[in-house]
Amino acid sequence: MKDVLLAWYSESKRSLPWRETTDPYAILVAEVMLQQTQVDRVVPHYLAWLERWPSAAALAAASPAEVIVAWQGLGYNRRAINLHRAAQHVAAHGWPDDLTELPGVGPYTAGAVGNFAFGRDVLPIDVNVRRIQERTGERFDSSCTQALFDLGATICLARIPRCGACPLADACPSRGSRYEPLRKQSRFEGSFRQRRAAALRAVAAGEQPTDGDALVALERDGLVVLEDGVASLPA
Ligand code: ADE
Repeated sequence: MKDVLLAWYSESKRSLPWRETTDPYAILVAEVMLQQTQVDRVVPHYLAWLERWPSAAALAAASPAEVIVAWQGLGYNRRAINLHRAAQHVAAHGWPDDLTELPGVGPYTAGAVGNFAFGRDVLPIDVNVRRIQERTGERFDSSCTQALFDLGATICLARIPRCGACPLADACPSRGSRYEPLRKQSRFEGSFRQRRAAALRAVAAGEQPTDGDALVALERDGLVVLEDGVASLPA
């Protein structure tokens, strides 16, 4: 299956800016953004981010406030603080062998950076990669990673896979199957996550939010500082 997959990929691969580099910092930025945000939304943020902070040292020298403001629109704002701290770690000590020592870097992100930037033989397993391995019954190796991302994003879709367009269909035991939605993404509207995001936007705009719970949670995550009852972005 691997050869068919890689042949398909070389014909149909998506052109994505982080595929043009092996710089570990750039790849870390992309992978942290991609953890919970769709590719289309990540691309402009990724390009602007690297233009503003082209290296770990440049990002390390920024203030948390600048980093939080630049992250707006990507969601899950804690990632911004973790990425900033990771850049400070790298600027001070270099890249650790074990990338999961960096804040906000779990096994998946460590695998992706290890593979794309350091050429390590690890297959980072995200939901797409796991789904394709389960459906095909195949264990793909690390050279297949980007191809699996694209197959999972465009063809081997979670609910209604497009088997008619799939290069692996002939050999796939799950060909033609349909799937129930596994778990719906929990609603953002009306959620605590939404209140947190609104409170952070207000602080970034220089306003004082009245949502105490949201502020406390933001402070705990290092996204705002509360002093004498006044909220501000960390300087
Ligand atoms: N999702 C997570 N990492 C990705 C990458 N490097 N390319 C495309 N989609 C991804």
